[in-house]
Amino acid sequence: MDDSSWDGSLATGDPVVDEQHREIHRILEYAETADDRPEEMMAVLERLMDHVHTHFATEEDLMEATSYTGPAADDHKADHHRLTDEARGAVLGLRSGEITSMRPLVEMLQDWLASHVQDHDRVFIEHMRAVRAGSE
Ligand SMILES: [Fe+2]
Ligand SMILES: [Fe+2]
Repeated sequence: MDDSSWDGSLATGDPVVDEQHREIHRILEYAETADDRPEEMMAVLERLMDHVHTHFATEEDLMEATSYTGPAADDHKADHHRLTDEARGAVLGLRSGEITSMRPLVEMLQDWLASHVQDHDRVFIEHMRAVRAGSE
């Protein structure tokens, strides 16, 4: 899987977070190629859910470690929850045969990733950088 189409504008400047975002992006690219193979679609979606879960936990641990609280933090976490719920719904849809193509799901997730990084992750990363700079 290559990530040649990875959009550098999504970079937050934190190496761990950036690598995790890149991996989400790579899985989404691969997911688009899994159409028409239900077992493969299921496998890739499960892999995506696992990775997204790990990524959200990483960010939320960092929030806690850097005392990132207040409305911005709450909105950020709420957006993680919203996405988790939607992805869970997609897994159920695939299982029941209600969803037969990965494409709309992949598009939804790509849009989500781009706007989430812009609206939430960047603000948090700025905070984290300021905290780290202050403690040096
Ligand atoms: Fe986030
Ligand atoms: Fe993120």
